[in-house]
Amino acid sequence: MKFSFQGSRVLVTGASRGIGRAIGQTFAEAGARVLVHYRDNREAARRALQALPGGPHEILAADLAKPGEGRCLLARAVSCLGGLDILVNNAGMYRPHPPASTNAEEWDEAWQRTLQVNLLSPAELSHAAIEPFRVAGGGRIVNVTSRGAFRGEPDAPAYGASKAGLNALSQSLAKALAPEGIFVYAVAPGWVETDMAAPYLEGPGGQEIRDQIPLGRLASPQEIARAVCFLASPGTESMTGCILDVNGASYLRT
Ligand SMILES: NC(=O)c1ccc[n+]([C@@H]2O[C@H](COP(=O)([O-])OP(=O)(O)OC[C@H]3O[C@@H](n4cnc5c(N)ncnc54)[C@H](OP(=O)(O)O)[C@@H]3O)[C@@H](O)[C@H]2O)c1
Repeated sequence: MKFSFQGSRVLVTGASRGIGRAIGQTFAEAGARVLVHYRDNREAARRALQALPGGPHEILAADLAKPGEGRCLLARAVSCLGGLDILVNNAGMYRPHPPASTNAEEWDEAWQRTLQVNLLSPAELSHAAIEPFRVAGGGRIVNVTSRGAFRGEPDAPAYGASKAGLNALSQSLAKALAPEGIFVYAVAPGWVETDMAAPYLEGPGGQEIRDQIPLGRLASPQEIARAVCFLASPGTESMTGCILDVNGASYLRT
């Protein structure tokens, strides 16, 4: 699949590693200018930035676990890039908190942090992007959600809820903003070969995870990046509000 994003200005959150890094790379290879966002892994983010062709690209840190940081990041990104055409809400966290063995304090902390990073900050970023998109004459948001939104996350209920919320946010914004030429999509991966998945794949349940996937392997970060870039491309306007599953047929919604 060949993409063209010549001159497009793209903010990718969580672009230092894993899926976000592949998304930034795919946009840059198609001619976009990319803002590489990260939390605190500066070395990884610098390596990701240096690997990008074209440019000039930019780099910014922001801890999206803090309320208000999403809005602030969006404003800084617009200033660095001179505007914004595409926002990819990819940054996310997964912290186990099994209901039967987690105390009240850990439970509340896991919910607050997970919802802030995975849902409330993307909501801030998306809302703050509306005005720059108006200035640009339109825009696109692609949110990276998860199969867990549909299938359930018994060891991390806040993760499943945050991703279900992000799907709902995508669909609500798609309805609200289509008349303004702002299109909103979600990509819902199953297991992907990244740092987030590594502890589970390398643990005792690793083979069972692989056995759940009829395709016989996990998705690569590049496959998720291609799905994101496809949705962000011209010609997908009528797909606004869609949730694209990328999970090797491991969970099929009806
Ligand atoms: N991997 C999977 O199997 C899988 C499956 C379904 C959905 N997803 C979703 O795909 C997205 C990317 O996942 P991944 O596997 O690529 O994750 P990853 O390898 O763990 O990378 C996470 C990225 O998010 C950033 N990040 C984490 N916490 C942050 C915070 N508090 N504030 C700002 N940035 C933060 C990290 O920045 P630093 O490098 O600075 O820490 C990093 O760039 C996530 O939304 C995840 O939920 C992943």
